[in-house]
Parts: sequence; C-alpha cells; structure tokens
Amino acid sequence: MLTLVPPMDSIHHVLAPVTGQHIDSSPESAATQELQLYEMIFSAVKPLALKAAVLLNIPDIIATRGNEGPLSAEQIAFHIAAANSSSTSNSHVDVGYLYRILRFLASYGVFSEQEEADQADDADTKKIKFGLTGISKLLVQGGNQQSCGPFLLLIANNVYLEAFQHLHESVLEGCYTFNKAHGTSPWEYLGRNPQANQIFNEGVATNTRSVMASVAKMYEDGFKSMATLVDVGGGMGSALSIIVKEHSHIRGINLDQPHVIATAPPITGVEHMEGNMFEHIPSADAVMMKWIIHDWGDEECVKLLRRSYEATPAKGKVLIVEAIVGGDKEGESMSRRLGLSYDMLLMVYTTGGKERTEEEFKRLFQLAGFKSYTIIKLPFLQSLIVLSKA
Ligand SMILES: C[S@@+](CC[C@H](N)C(=O)[O-])C[C@H]1O[C@@H](n2cnc3c(N)ncnc32)[C@H](O)[C@@H]1O
Repeated sequence: MLTLVPPMDSIHHVLAPVTGQHIDSSPESAATQELQLYEMIFSAVKPLALKAAVLLNIPDIIATRGNEGPLSAEQIAFHIAAANSSSTSNSHVDVGYLYRILRFLASYGVFSEQEEADQADDADTKKIKFGLTGISKLLVQGGNQQSCGPFLLLIANNVYLEAFQHLHESVLEGCYTFNKAHGTSPWEYLGRNPQANQIFNEGVATNTRSVMASVAKMYEDGFKSMATLVDVGGGMGSALSIIVKEHSHIRGINLDQPHVIATAPPITGVEHMEGNMFEHIPSADAVMMKWIIHDWGDEECVKLLRRSYEATPAKGKVLIVEAIVGGDKEGESMSRRLGLSYDMLLMVYTTGGKERTEEEFKRLFQLAGFKSYTIIKLPFLQSLIVLSKA
C-alpha cells in the first residue's frame, strides 16, 4: 500500500466543514475556566514587572524627561543608560526587553500607549509612546513622600517571596512560614539585615504617610483634645510626623525596636523611644497603633490592648488603624479581596498575624476591657477604630 508522507517543511491541514458548532464562552465553560485559572497563575508576573519598572525608574523618567508626555522605549532607554552609565561597566540598555515590559504593563493600564502616526514605518520601540496614567503616577518617587514605589518593593522583596514557597508546610506542620524559610522570626531577621530593614521601614512608611494624612483630618476634634500621643510600633515616626504637623500642640512619643529607632530621622515635636511594646507602653492621653494588631495573634493583641488601656487616663483613647475584612462574600468586592490578599501576606510575613473581621476585633477589645468603639471609614484599605474606656 502506498502512503503519502508530506515533505518536512509543509504540513497539510484539512478543514472540516462547520456544522453549526460554536465556542462556548459562558462563564461556566471549561475553556473559560481554564483561561481564568491561567490568569491567576500568570498574575505572579504583575508585581515583578512593576518592580522592574520601578527599579529602572521608568515612572520618574516619564514624569521628568517627558514633561509627563509619552516617551518611546528608545527614549526611555536613553535616559536609563544615562542614569546607569557610572554604575555599570557597559551602559548598554536592551530596548527590546524594555519595550516588552512597557507593553505588558500598558496592557494593565499602568502606562498609556499611543502610536505616533508620523513614524508608522519605524519599529515599535520607536513609534509606540508610553505615558503616565493615574496608576503609574502613584509610582513616581522623586519628591513624592507618598509614592507607592517603596511599598511595592517591600511586597515584591525576595525575602518574602522566598518565604511564600513554604506556605504549604505551615498547613502541614503548624509552623510559622517566615521562620521555616529563614530560620528566625521576621523581626529578628530585620534586626540583623539592614538592607531588608530599610526596605521594610520605607515600604510601610509610604503607606502610612497617605493614610495618616486622612486620619489627621477625619479625627481632627479628637486630636484637638489630646496633649500627648504614643505611637506604639511607630516605625520611623512617619505617622506621628503627620499628626504633629497638623496638630502642633501634641507631643508625640514614637516607640519601636532599637534597630528601627536607629534609622528614624529627628522630627520636631516627636521623641523617639526604644522599647519592647509587650513590656512597657509609656503613659499618654492617647495610644495609637497602626498596622500593629494585624501583625500578631489574638493573645499578643489582647496583651498590647491591655497595656494601652493601662497607659491611658479614664477619658483616654486608643486609636487603631487597620483593615476590617468585610463579610460581603456575594459581591467578592475589591476591598474584600484586597483584605484577604493582605491576610495571605500576613500569614507569611508574621508570626501569627492576620486581618480581622469587625466581630474578631470586637472580641479582642472586650477581652482587653474597653467599653465601646467607633469606626471611622477612611478612603483606604484601613479604617480608624477609636476605643474608649467608657
Ligand atoms: C507593620 S510595622 C508598622 C509601623 C508603623 N506603625 C506604620 O504603620 O508605619 C510594625 C512595627 O512594629 C514594630 N515592632 C515589632 N515588634 C515590636 C516590639 N516588640 N516592640 C516595639 N515595636 C515593635 C516593628 O519594628 C515595626 O516598626
């Protein structure tokens, strides 16, 4: 029998007639679900591409060199090369790689993308121009104390990405994920690694500057009625610096660990104090804890809340700035998803920390002896919770 074998460089495709079949793109179809799964799998690419863009200083280059107007990959490459000419032996910048990073991020709205009509025959690296959008403006760092760039570099830091590889072991063994990965607790690790400590402190501080500017305004009357305020675990003093700037009659005390206080800049109206918050919280009219409760398990939180209770007078207040996880399972709203994403980070980054629902917070407040609380919604992930003894 004669078999016809096609030559190697030609493959013959036979097209079957179309018989009224259609591609099922309903949300339940297997094909759509596979695409949804792939979208989740590939989503790990996003923060890493953003990190590359921030490390290359692309948002700042477009903001300053392009006068906020769009630049081509070639133009951006020119400025990257100029900025790196002294630090690398060869200031060659791969425009092709750069273009692909820009194109990917533009597909998510991080950069705008427009084709220059008069350069239609040029390569895409020349004719496509990338501009800032509302998202990439948030990543511009020069002179912007509230830039999200340092927070991104914290979340995408290898120290934490490495720890994530051990998350399943926490389920199997009941161990802390970070400790399993690094053989030590997160705070001890940061105490011994100045570079990781700096990335952590700066990342947290940029979020704090945005959120606290809003807290300073939305709790204005409360701040007016206090003379002293302790920020427990206040990092480099970013939160207090904003409060005392807006309310200059307040004397602030910034309490944190020695390796953090060592990096804190002097701030008028704020005294930096080294100490262990579990052992002692200095007395004041009010105690503030931003992003502290979510770092710890319930037992430690009750201890911190009791210490705060003891440190304040009968009419004193304890201010908690934290995300409150919503119960809106139906809508799977963005804020619920963000809260739950942060909860995953806390599983990996802390020893027992978690995001909490209002009910979970309420139980902690009751156990510590507080009689009432008020929630003030902020235009951020976090809310301000004001605890009262009466
Ligand atoms: C997530 S950061 C929050 C920093 C700051 N409140 C903010 O939001 O910008 C947690 C802080 O708690 C501090 N911390 C951890 N354990 C501490 C302890 N035992 N005593 C004092 N501070 C501590 C850390 O050093 C870190 O600055």
